[in-house]
Amino acid sequence: MEIINVRDLDVGYGGTVVLRGMNFSIAQGRITAIIGASGSGKSTLLKTMIGLLPPLAGEIRLAGERIEFDSERCLGRLFRRIGVLYQNSALLGALTLYENVALPIRMHHPERPRSEERAAVRTMLDRVGLRDCEDKYPFELSGGMRKRAALARAMILKPELIFCDEPSAGLDPITSAGLDELLLELRTGHGVTFIVVTHELRSIARIADRVLVLRDGRIYHEGDCADILRSDDPYLREFFLRKTDHDH
Ligand SMILES: Nc1ncnc2c1ncn2[C@@H]1O[C@H](COP(=O)(O)OP(=O)(O)OP(=O)(O)O)[C@@H](O)[C@H]1O
Ligand SMILES: [Mg+2]
Repeated sequence: MEIINVRDLDVGYGGTVVLRGMNFSIAQGRITAIIGASGSGKSTLLKTMIGLLPPLAGEIRLAGERIEFDSERCLGRLFRRIGVLYQNSALLGALTLYENVALPIRMHHPERPRSEERAAVRTMLDRVGLRDCEDKYPFELSGGMRKRAALARAMILKPELIFCDEPSAGLDPITSAGLDELLLELRTGHGVTFIVVTHELRSIARIADRVLVLRDGRIYHEGDCADILRSDDPYLREFFLRKTDHDH
């Protein structure tokens, strides 16, 4: 089943069109990787899919329902159903880790009793391996710990759909592999759908059920990882061989 349907979507800023005529679907309970060169529009596409950047044309449907970018109610519903791990983690520096992870609960469910909140936050911190860090501030954490904290915050409302912009950028291979396993566990164990922007070939090969390649404002290729590795398309080969060379 498909959870997201994108039809004839144009996205850009002001008069500049970054992505043109996008048509694709995202399968529910799967991990879809979005890849492409720097500046190809990956973060831009993500911004539109999470309701932050109204498209210039076309539509996005979430579970069949069209996202109305001019309706606060519609966007509110969208925000409660999704979790987002931003490219730079985007933790709030004045809040402790606990408060950062509790934030979506306080914003969207202010009536929820504090005892319930505490149990939920602690379970989540435990799951990302940050049990003993709840009173720390973001500046006291390493980059990998910040990513994991941001993932805990993205998951706290138990969203059916999680968007991750370069979750493993800047992480060592072991921490990055740990994050991949966490995503797989959530997908397989809890049926969470992931849309992950990443440059890491190893991560793509390990986690992605499907890969979308952006190039020149369009979807250049769509398929599974094995398809891409088998492809004799010069651009795909260069893109992936470079990554492989770079990795070693
Ligand atoms: N807020 C903005 N205003 C105007 N143009 C923007 C804005 N954000 C991004 N762009 C432009 O949109 C294009 C795509 O940028 P985007 O950030 O989506 O790329 P990306 O694929 O995520 O790159 P990276 O791999 O470096 O993160 C670029 O040409 C960029 O200059
Ligand atoms: Mg980006």
